[in-house]
Amino acid sequence: MKFMNKTALVTGAAVGIGRAAAILLAQGGANLILIDLNIEKLEAVKAELSEYKVKCIAYKCDVRNETEVNEVVKKSIDEFGRIDILVNNAALWRSYTPFLDTPIDDWKKYFEVNVMGCVYCTRAVLPSMIENRWGRIINVASVAGVYGNANMVNYSATKGAVISLTKALAKEVSDKGVTVNAVSPGSVSSSENDDIDYTKPSELSFIGRTGSDRENANLICFLASEDSSYISGQNIQIDGCRKKQ
Ligand SMILES: NC(=O)c1ccc[n+]([C@@H]2O[C@H](COP(=O)([O-])OP(=O)(O)OC[C@H]3O[C@@H](n4cnc5c(N)ncnc54)[C@H](O)[C@@H]3O)[C@@H](O)[C@H]2O)c1
Repeated sequence: MKFMNKTALVTGAAVGIGRAAAILLAQGGANLILIDLNIEKLEAVKAELSEYKVKCIAYKCDVRNETEVNEVVKKSIDEFGRIDILVNNAALWRSYTPFLDTPIDDWKKYFEVNVMGCVYCTRAVLPSMIENRWGRIINVASVAGVYGNANMVNYSATKGAVISLTKALAKEVSDKGVTVNAVSPGSVSSSENDDIDYTKPSELSFIGRTGSDRENANLICFLASEDSSYISGQNIQIDGCRKKQ
């Protein structure tokens, strides 16, 4: 069991890539702290994890709210003693608006969730990782943060920030046993019937299809494991060899 005696915190774990990562971490034996705004779906994921006999706590928590994040992390460390793995996955992205039509409030909201949410969670968890001289931080970015997506300028800018945050922080903490990496998905299909292996054809990748939640979770879990011990400060694209940049 790859994650035996490890505790992982996954944000945005109610659906999609976050849910798939939570399932794979639990399969590997990790205890889980799950965070999302959507507590009903989060509770459903927690119920799914019960078959793996790991401990799991689900919190309704807004990653934009530093106080809420700090409280959740404190309660989790009181319960589990430590947090070893942090997956910063929660984000806003499902809107497509030309730059001039994007309200400034949307810019602020996207930065608050996608960047500051990641900052608050990382600030809350990192001291425990440094104290234990072991930690894995995986930030879910996007190919939009590498190439830039038209009609998603605010989103692209947040994911670019997440990638540079990842690279810079890794330089501060890698010698303390904590690795920091980003994964950048291309097009991912999430199924309405909760099939984490679901994909569909896509002209955006040379492989010719979208990625599945599980494929993304596989990469996240590799970076969360001891197997990735010499990888830090990287942004790994998982995009089926993307065609349009
Ligand atoms: N799905 C894709 O095609 C794709 C492509 C590239 C990158 N990504 C990235 O992958 C990650 C997951 O995307 P997805 O499509 O699997 O999931 P999603 O976007 O469908 O769901 C994200 C989850 O985050 C939660 N969330 C949103 N705001 C929150 C907040 N303030 N506090 C707490 N939770 C909050 C939502 O309730 C939701 O459950 C995101 O970071 C996204 O930017 C996704």
